[in-house]
Amino acid sequence: MEKKINWKELGFSYIKTPWRFLAKWSDGHWQPGELTGDNQLKISEASTALHYGQQCFEGLKAYRRKDGGINLFRPDQNSQRLNHSAQRLYMPEVPEELFIEAVMQVVKANQEYVPPYGTGGTLYIRPLLIGVGDMIGVQPAQEYIFTVFCMPVGPYFKGGLTPTNFIVSNYDRAAPNGTGAIKVGGNYAASLLPGQEAHAKNFSDCIYLDPQTHTKIEEVGSANFFGITKDNEFVTPISPSILPSITKYSLLYLAEHRLGLTAIEGDVFVDDLDRFTEAGACGTAAVISPIGGIQYNDDFHVFYSETEVGPITKKLYEELTGIQFGDINAPEGWILSVI
Ligand code: PLP
Ligand code: COI
Repeated sequence: MEKKINWKELGFSYIKTPWRFLAKWSDGHWQPGELTGDNQLKISEASTALHYGQQCFEGLKAYRRKDGGINLFRPDQNSQRLNHSAQRLYMPEVPEELFIEAVMQVVKANQEYVPPYGTGGTLYIRPLLIGVGDMIGVQPAQEYIFTVFCMPVGPYFKGGLTPTNFIVSNYDRAAPNGTGAIKVGGNYAASLLPGQEAHAKNFSDCIYLDPQTHTKIEEVGSANFFGITKDNEFVTPISPSILPSITKYSLLYLAEHRLGLTAIEGDVFVDDLDRFTEAGACGTAAVISPIGGIQYNDDFHVFYSETEVGPITKKLYEELTGIQFGDINAPEGWILSVI
C-alpha cells in the first residue's frame, strides 16, 4: 500500500481516487453503469440540478478490518434514504441492487485508498443523484446521473474524540414540512452561511432549533444530536425536519441493547440542557463527536467537560466503531463485507 498519504493526519477533504461509478437514466430506465477514471461531469447548462436543486446524495464509509478485509456499514439504509430523497424531489429511484453494486465496485477498485486498520481513517463514499439534460422550466428533468465516488478521510470535526464547542443558530435549516428529512443539497446550501458564522467564532458547527417554535434542538448542520441524562437515558431529538441519521438509529439500538441505557427519541428543549451530563454529535462523517459546550444567546452551557470525552459517550463510540471495523459482533445485517 504505497500511497503517499499520511493516514493518521487525514482530515475531511476531497482526494481524487482513481475510480468512480457512473450510470445514466433516460427514456424511463437506468442504462448499465460503469467505472470511470474521469472525475469531471459534463452536463447541460440547463440541468435541473444546477438551477432548481434537483439533486440528492448519501454518505457512507468503508472500514479496514484487522484481517485486512473491508466492511461496509448498513449500506441498505443509505440506499433506502437516497430513494426517499429521490421520491420527494421527483427523481427516479436507484434500485438497491444498483446502489450496492456501485458502492462495492468503487470500494474494490479503490481499495488501496481504504486506510489501514488502527489509523482511525476510513474511506468515505459519496453517492450522488442529479437531474441533468435540457430543461429550463421548473419541472423534473428527463435525464439523470447516478455516480459514486470516494476518498480516504479522518475526523470531520477537528477534535475527533476530544470535545469541541457548538453554537445555536438563529437561522433555520429546514421548514416544518419541507426537505429537512431528506439529504438534498438545498439543506446544506442553507447551512453554509450559519456554518461559516459559527466557524468564525471558533465553534465546530451550529445547532439548529425547530423551525416552528425555536425552543427545541433539532440537529447539527452536518450530524444529529444526542444527550445522556443523569438517569442513564440516551436521548436524541424527534422531528419531521431532521435527517433520519443511520448512525443515530444505530446508537439508539446499541444504547439500549448493548449498554443497558434507556433509549429515547423525544423533545430536547434548549432551555433544559442541565438534564444532560454528556452530549454529542453523531453521523457518518462525525462518527461520535463529543460536545464540550453549547453557546445559546449569552449562555455557554458545558456538559461533561470541554477537554475530555464523557464515559458513556466513549463506550458508545467504542461499541459503534468496534462493530464498524469488525472487532465487535454486529447486530444481524449491519455489516456487508466487500473483501
Ligand atoms: N444530519 C445531517 C444534517 C447530516 O448531514 C448527517 C450526515 O449524513 C447526519 C445528520 C447523520 O446521518 P448519518 O448518520 O446517516 O450519516
Ligand atoms: C455525512 O456524514 O455523510 C454527511 O453527509 C455529513 C456532511 C459531510 C455533509
